[in-house]
Amino acid sequence: MTAQIISGTEVAAQIRQELEQEIVELKDKYNITPGLATVLVGEDPASQVYVGQKQKTSLALGIYSERHDLPAETSEEDLLILIDKLNEAPRIHGILVQLPLPKHINETKILYAINPKKDVDGFHPVNLGRLMIGEPDYLPCTPHGIQQLLIRSGIEIEGAEVVIVGRSNIVGKPIANMLIQKTEGANATVTICHTRTIDIALHTRRADILIVAAGKPKAITADMVKEGVVVIDVGVHRIGIRKESGKSILCGDVDFDAVKEKAKAITPVPGGVGPMTITMLMLNTVRAAKLAAGLA
Ligand code: GUN
Repeated sequence: MTAQIISGTEVAAQIRQELEQEIVELKDKYNITPGLATVLVGEDPASQVYVGQKQKTSLALGIYSERHDLPAETSEEDLLILIDKLNEAPRIHGILVQLPLPKHINETKILYAINPKKDVDGFHPVNLGRLMIGEPDYLPCTPHGIQQLLIRSGIEIEGAEVVIVGRSNIVGKPIANMLIQKTEGANATVTICHTRTIDIALHTRRADILIVAAGKPKAITADMVKEGVVVIDVGVHRIGIRKESGKSILCGDVDFDAVKEKAKAITPVPGGVGPMTITMLMLNTVRAAKLAAGLA
């Protein structure tokens, strides 16, 4: 079987085009420019790249964006003061605090401090709770990106056996909650596997749709999937550097070359889930601006 390669780059470009139009309309009709503040604490190179990409995409779409880069030794108190300021700032509709935070800062406390109406990551307990009961304001970006990739690639989700590997608050738990909802683009039967699952392959082999956010390079091998599976790979790992270009060589949580021989459709790394995550952050920022103006 030759797998359909699900291009996150292409689907993301399509959604960005739709967003660009919405942003122009907001500006023309209501004189509103959506605004995003990113907060980065410390010098983690991967986080710096992610925040840089979020800033660049905001500017390209016509979103006002503010970058707050703080030293690693910033105190929890000072970070809370900045968040309070951003909660009050009228130009800022969305606040994104890049994770992970340095060890001396309590992540939960910081996420609670963000005004849920400005929580464009969808990580605040209020937003996660609303998602769970089927009344979401903001969907977390990576799960929302995964759902849109499936829908826009014509994959049937209703009634599918979905198996998720990984139970993080950022990906595994929210995507499971989204796909069991009684709504369009959901109504799946969902299993979540994790580090204490006795026999992961027993579950993954049953999957019609396999979503992998295990955080382990090439953890899913060809013997662990059935013929015709649809595979969404959330992992990103740097496994080397290209001599010629100095660019990173990346791989996902799935052994792509082997699994694509059995899959009906599969996302690549890079160019799969990654571009979708950033795009859904932009979508949430536009939504935040509309909600603040009573337009959504
Ligand atoms: N770190 C890894 N993924 C994410 C994300 O989606 N949002 C934030 N804020 N931090 C992250």
